[in-house]
Amino acid sequence: MAVPVCSRCKFTLTDFLWWSTRLSLGLDHPKTFAVIEYRQFKNSDPPHILRMWNECQLGRSAAIGLRCDEFDELIIAQTYFDPAGMILACQDGEVVGFSHAGFGPNADRSALGNDDGVICAVMVHPRARRQGIGTELVRRAEQYLRSRGSSKIFAGGADPRDPFYCGIYGGSQSAGFLMSDVAAEPFFTKLGYAACEQHLVFQRSLGVGSADPVGARLVNVRRTTRLTALNHDPKTWWWQTRYGRLDAMHLALVPRTGGTPLARISVVGLDRYVTTWGTRGIGLLGLYVSEANRQKGYGQALLVEVCRRVRDDMVQLAEAHAPKSDPAAIAVLESAGFKQIDAGQVYRLKG
Ligand SMILES: CC(C)(COP(=O)(O)OP(=O)(O)OC[C@H]1O[C@@H](n2cnc3c(N)ncnc32)[C@H](O)[C@@H]1OP(=O)(O)O)[C@@H](O)C(=O)NCCC(=O)NCCS
Repeated sequence: MAVPVCSRCKFTLTDFLWWSTRLSLGLDHPKTFAVIEYRQFKNSDPPHILRMWNECQLGRSAAIGLRCDEFDELIIAQTYFDPAGMILACQDGEVVGFSHAGFGPNADRSALGNDDGVICAVMVHPRARRQGIGTELVRRAEQYLRSRGSSKIFAGGADPRDPFYCGIYGGSQSAGFLMSDVAAEPFFTKLGYAACEQHLVFQRSLGVGSADPVGARLVNVRRTTRLTALNHDPKTWWWQTRYGRLDAMHLALVPRTGGTPLARISVVGLDRYVTTWGTRGIGLLGLYVSEANRQKGYGQALLVEVCRRVRDDMVQLAEAHAPKSDPAAIAVLESAGFKQIDAGQVYRLKG
C-alpha cells in the first residue's frame, strides 16, 4: 500500500523515489521543488502580473494583451487600491500566481463598506498548478479581508461587490467567475465556498447578416420615440470609479414630442477584448425603463436602436448581462436578439 509521507499533497514513498531518480538523472528541473515566497504587491510587479495573466489560459471573458498603463489605470490607480490586498506567489523571484482582494461599497455607494470582502482574482501559472499555491493565495486573501473587518467573504466580483477588474475580466460588467474559466468552480468548492449568485452573459452579433428583430410594436415605438444622449446622468461615486474609467456613454429613448426619458441605458466600449474576441464590441448595462412605461416595448426598442447605431461605428458585437433571478431582464435581452453564451458565479465562504 502507498503510504503518504506528506498528508497535504499525498506524496508517497514511491513518488519520492521516482522523483529523486528523475532529478538525479537531470530529467526534471529542481525548480519543481523550489520554495514559494508569498508577498504583497510592489510597484514593479504589473509587467510580471500581466505576463502571467496572458499565459494563464483564461477563458473568453478575460482581456488579453493588456498594456501596463491600462492595468495601472483600471486597477492600481483606484484610490482604494491597497498593496496588502494583492498577494503574489513567487518561485525563484518569478511571479507564478497572485490573488487580489477588495471590498464592496457602503449602502449609499459613496465609500467602501469593508463588511463585504471580495476575492476578485486568483490565478496560478499553468506550470505551477495543483501544488496548493492557489489555495494558499486564497487563504491569505481571506486573512487580509478579515484583518480589515470583513464578516462576509465572497469570491468573484459582481455588481455592486466588484472593486477591481471591471473592463478587463467579465466582459460588459463583472459577473463573478465565469463558467468558461472551468477551474474556478471546482477550486472554490474545494476551498469551502458555495455559489450564491448567478449572472447570465448574453451577446448579439452585429456583423454582416445579423438582422434586427421586427414587429408592429417595435415599428410603432420607433415612430413615436427617438434615441438621445443624456448629458447629465448622475451616477454614484462607486459607478464612476469603476465604469467611469471605461469609455461610457448614457443614452435614452425619449418621446418625439418631448418629455422625460422612457428608458435609459449605459454603453461602454469593450475594445480591450478585441484580442480575445477577434472583434470590436460594446457593453450595454443599467437598462432602466421607468415603472409606468414597462411592458410597452421601450426596453426592447432601446436595445435594438443602440445596436443599430453602433453598427455604423464598425462595432460587431454587443454584450449585456442579466442576473439569473431576473426573468424580465432575461426576456428583454432575448426579445432584442441576444443569446446566452456564458454564465458567471459568485461564491461565498461557508460558515
Ligand atoms: C483556479 C486556479 C487558481 C487553481 O490554482 P492551483 O494552484 O492549481 O490550485 P490548488 O493546487 O490550490 O488546488 C486546490 C484544489 O482545488 C481543486 N482544483 C484546482 N484546480 C482544479 C481543476 N482544474 N479542476 C478540478 N479541480 C481543481 C482541487 O480539488 C485541488 O486539490 P487537489 O489538487 O488536491 O485535487 C488555477 O487553476 C488557475 O489559475 N486557473 C486559471 C485562472 C482562473 O480561472 N481563475 C479564476 C478566475 S480569475
